[in-house]
Amino acid sequence: MTAHAGIVTVLVVDDEEPIRNALRKYLKQQQFEVFAASSADEALEQLRLHKVALMLSDIRMPGTSGVDLVPQALEIEPDLAILMLTAVNDATSAALCMQRGAMDYLTKPIELADLGRAVQRALKRREMQLESRHLNQWLKEEVTTRTAELQRQQHRMERISTATLEALVNALEAKDPYLRGHSARVADLSANIATELALGEEVVDRVRVAGRLHDLGKIGTRDAVVNKEGPLTAEEFEHVKQHVIIGAQILAPLVHLGDIVAMVKSHHERYDGTGYPDGLRGEEVPLGGRIIAAAEVYDALTTARPYQEKMTPE
Ligand SMILES: [Fe+2]
Repeated sequence: MTAHAGIVTVLVVDDEEPIRNALRKYLKQQQFEVFAASSADEALEQLRLHKVALMLSDIRMPGTSGVDLVPQALEIEPDLAILMLTAVNDATSAALCMQRGAMDYLTKPIELADLGRAVQRALKRREMQLESRHLNQWLKEEVTTRTAELQRQQHRMERISTATLEALVNALEAKDPYLRGHSARVADLSANIATELALGEEVVDRVRVAGRLHDLGKIGTRDAVVNKEGPLTAEEFEHVKQHVIIGAQILAPLVHLGDIVAMVKSHHERYDGTGYPDGLRGEEVPLGGRIIAAAEVYDALTTARPYQEKMTPE
């Protein structure tokens, strides 16, 4: 094993003992830890036992050839740098080895100096591959972390934008003692209805936000009309109706609100098609809009108005 950093392990594979010994001796002189194998099967055995950085292998051997050894060795040790030793007249096998993942090949008879340089080149390349793999891994983790961070930030911004609008609704209602708390109550009630309908947590949350913001468009209603006691003229009523459109327009740019905008816009639609602004009927009215409409009626009936005594929930 390359137990301590700095010591690099090399595996020499050759069926001819004199060559094997010469290579082993030379590589040991170059400060490598060297294991040797006389066949492909023995080499695979060694690779399972030791963490090897580089394998130097003959191509022509009895039994499994060097060509077939290459992919099997890489399966055991994917980071292995492989150098092939080939006969002069066997360029085809050498090319095949390269195709299968060997890094380089040397032609026999081998000049030891050439071998030394080829080994260093292969090890350098292996190191660079390992580094780039680590870098990739690090980048991937970094991107994941940053993406999560951005998502958290985005959710925070979304919550803030919704909270700002809620503050606006509060300010709007604060001016009118009969409206004070209306949207908050409608929001709670709508959420309760949605829960009763088993609509799921996420839908319940959106219905609640829609309830909170449903009358936001009243910001565009003239004070004289908002504060008017007694019945509205036809023109004034048309003006009040605009609040659903104005509300939807204010919310439209906030893409994260999604179908909340439609719920706000449709909270005065009626099942029989006599509502506004679009005269939708039946199932055409978004469920969220229908829920808010029901909650609003309930709240209106159970809250005291200048022209009406408060009713009990029953
Ligand atoms: Fe409304």
